[in-house]
Amino acid sequence: MTDGAIFLLTDRPDRSSALETILNTVGRCEVVAGDQKPSPGARPVAIVSDLTLSRRESVGRLRALLPSGPVARPGAIAGQAGRIPIICLMRSTSDQDLRQARDLGATVCLPAYTSPHVVAQVIRDQVAARDETASSVSGQGIVRATEALTGLFAGAREGGLTLGVVEAGLTPILAAVREGGLTRWLDTVWTHDDATYQHCLLVAGVSAQFVNFLQFREQDRQHFVRAALLHDLGKARIPQAILNKPGRLDADEMEIMRTHPVIGYEILRDSGCDDATLGAVRHHHEMLDGSGYPDGLVGSAIGDTVRLLTICDIYAALTERRSYKEPMPVRDALAVLESMDTKLEAGLVRCFGDAMMAVAP
Ligand SMILES: [Fe+2]
Ligand SMILES: [Fe+2]
Repeated sequence: MTDGAIFLLTDRPDRSSALETILNTVGRCEVVAGDQKPSPGARPVAIVSDLTLSRRESVGRLRALLPSGPVARPGAIAGQAGRIPIICLMRSTSDQDLRQARDLGATVCLPAYTSPHVVAQVIRDQVAARDETASSVSGQGIVRATEALTGLFAGAREGGLTLGVVEAGLTPILAAVREGGLTRWLDTVWTHDDATYQHCLLVAGVSAQFVNFLQFREQDRQHFVRAALLHDLGKARIPQAILNKPGRLDADEMEIMRTHPVIGYEILRDSGCDDATLGAVRHHHEMLDGSGYPDGLVGSAIGDTVRLLTICDIYAALTERRSYKEPMPVRDALAVLESMDTKLEAGLVRCFGDAMMAVAP
């Protein structure tokens, strides 16, 4: 589990105690002085650099602490939701030093003599602005993805499915999870009133986090999230009474429910869907030991996309909120996946666990 802190990087720790005290009123402040490293597992929610940036070693220290991946990307567009505040206290404001700070991803440059109260307020303002942007990116992602699902399920129910409608949902989902974070996405998805759409949005969000974490190429990320959105399309033709039953399905209902992978496959095959996505839709309930359905595939007969998607699907089902069941905590759900070691690929499950824990609240 990661632990968020404001990192105060300093090469003059004897003069940083006033700033540390004030920053502790915003959030836990961790002073990283000299050649020290932050405590293991600590993750920056903001960085204050009180370093002489004209020194190569100072630049190296700051660069080494910058988070990679979804938390912050130096050089990203100012105001973008995924960035954490990086405040550079400048000993000199020469063009060269300012350019250096900007290249390092500084969100604000202030003179070194700025009052600690002002520095603290700047961090508060930047965090608030980032959260607002993240909420709006997440909200827009849900709206676009829901529009795509509504079009798909209506097409699947009534005939005349147009696969193009799914494309408009992919980039917003990936952006929402990357910029706004998976937790915010899940919080929004859980307010959705339709259980099937909710599940598909949940699997899509978890899938987006997984492929963002694995740093897939953009095209491959979109392809995977597309499969996630489509994977349960066959449920469009399963009776609502079964889909929304507030409790366990009986044997007859389960038999009907288990037809959804083949129904989805047939609908999509007739709509000109690509083979990899068709395979993912038909086989997302197959298990490596042959105990899955509909075709009882074993081991190498189950491709990579299916293996990844199956893990996301089971995790989503375990952590879902329903009127009749509490959501399973993240660690418990990951333990269930790990216990399925004859059915799921253990290496992928471990990697999936890392991707989920990287954003665990
Ligand atoms: Fe399914
Ligand atoms: Fe599913």
